[in-house]
Amino acid sequence: MGLPLRVGIIGVGKISEQYLANLPTFPGLRLVAVADLNRERAQQVADENGVRALSVDELIDDPEVDAVLNLTIPAAHVEIGTRALKAGKHVFAEKPLGLDPVEAEAMLDLAEELGLRFGSAPDTVLGTGVQTARRTLESGIVGEPIAASVHWAAPGHERWHPAPEFYYQPGGGPLLDMGPYYLTALVHFFGPVVRVSGLATRSDRPRTIESGPRAGTPIPVSIDTYVSALLEHASGVTSTVTVSFETWRTRAPKFEVFGTEGTIAVPDPNMFSDPVEVAVRDEEWRVVPDSAGCIDTGRGVGLADIADAIEEDRPHRASGRLALHVLEVMDAVLRSSDEKAVVEIRSTVERPEILPLRTTTGEEPALAGARD
Ligand SMILES: NC(=O)c1ccc[n+]([C@@H]2O[C@H](COP(=O)([O-])OP(=O)(O)OC[C@H]3O[C@@H](n4cnc5c(N)ncnc54)[C@H](O)[C@@H]3O)[C@@H](O)[C@H]2O)c1
Repeated sequence: MGLPLRVGIIGVGKISEQYLANLPTFPGLRLVAVADLNRERAQQVADENGVRALSVDELIDDPEVDAVLNLTIPAAHVEIGTRALKAGKHVFAEKPLGLDPVEAEAMLDLAEELGLRFGSAPDTVLGTGVQTARRTLESGIVGEPIAASVHWAAPGHERWHPAPEFYYQPGGGPLLDMGPYYLTALVHFFGPVVRVSGLATRSDRPRTIESGPRAGTPIPVSIDTYVSALLEHASGVTSTVTVSFETWRTRAPKFEVFGTEGTIAVPDPNMFSDPVEVAVRDEEWRVVPDSAGCIDTGRGVGLADIADAIEEDRPHRASGRLALHVLEVMDAVLRSSDEKAVVEIRSTVERPEILPLRTTTGEEPALAGARD
C-alpha cells in the first residue's frame, strides 16, 4: 500500500474541524474524500479542503480510500466501522468504540480476520501530557503506585455543542463520553482492570440546547449524568473515578496518581500537551520536563501511528482492543450500579508501548525536555 495512507472521513461535524486542521501535519496521512449524512455539509468541507465529497456508500467503496476515519456519533460507530472493514479499509474511530462491547468485539474480530488495522480515540494520551506522566511514574520517582483519583465534572455539553442530543442518549453521558480519556490513561499507567464497582445517578434538571441555530430546544435525557466508580487493576492499583454532567463548579483536582514516595498531578487527558507536575513526599510541586509523547500534536496522531505501524510492521498504540477494554469497563460500571454488585472484567489488554519524545514528523527534538 505504501505511505501516505489515503484517508476518507465519514461524519464531518464539530470534532472533524480538529482532524481537518491536523491531518496535513502528518506526513503518513493524506485526506482524499469526506462524506456525511448531511450532503451539503460534506460538500462545504470538501470544497474547503480541496478533496472530493462522496456519499457514505461511495466513500466506503472508493478504491482510492485506504483508511476510513469515522467521526460519526457513537450510535453509528460500529455500523460504519463494520461496513468499512468489509470493504477492505483500515478504520480509526472516535470514542466510544460502540454502545455494546459484544457488538464492538465482533467488529474487532472481523478486522483481525481481514488483516486490517482498527484504531480508536482517544489519541490525546499520545501527547506529551499523559506520556510524560507515564514516564515519570515508570522512573520510580514517586515510588510504587498505590492508587489514582480522577474527577471530571461540568454542567453539561449543551452549554457549547450545537447538536448535543447524543450526549444524553446511550453511548453518551459523562462516563461513555469523558471516561475513555481517563480510563485509557489509567490503563497506560497501571495496565488492565479486573473488577469494578459503580454508582450512577441523575437529576431531573431540564436541559436545553444553548448555542447554534437550535438554541432553546429541549434535550431528552435517557442516561445517568453523575457516575462514580472504583476500579481494581490487575497490578493491584486501585483507581477512583467520578465523572459528572451535574456540576456547576468544583475545586477537585482532575487527575492524580499516588505513589509510596509522592504524587503525580496528571494533566487533563482530553488535552495533548499540558504540563505534568510532581511532588516527592512533602516537597513543593514542580513541573516535569517533557520526556515522552508527541510534541505539539492533536487529534489524528493515533491514525498517523497506524500508518507508521503498517510500514514498520508493529502494533499501533491507540488500538481497538484498548478501546474495547475501556468500553467493557464503562459498561460494567453502569451494570454494577444497576445490579448493585461488583462486576468482573472479562477482557484484558497489553499496555501500549510508550511513545518516545518526538515531533509530528517523527523527529527526535534537538533539546529533549524543551518546552516553548
Ligand atoms: N465535539 C467534540 O468536542 C468531541 C471531542 C472529542 C470526541 N468527539 C467524538 O466525536 C464524535 C462526533 O462528535 P461531534 O461532536 O463531531 O458530533 P456532531 O454531531 O457535531 O457530528 C457528527 C456528524 O456525523 C454525521 N453522521 C451521523 N451519523 C452518520 C452516519 N450514519 N453516516 C454518516 N454521517 C453521519 C452527522 O450528520 C454529523 O455531521 C462522537 O463520537 C464524539 O464523542 C467529539
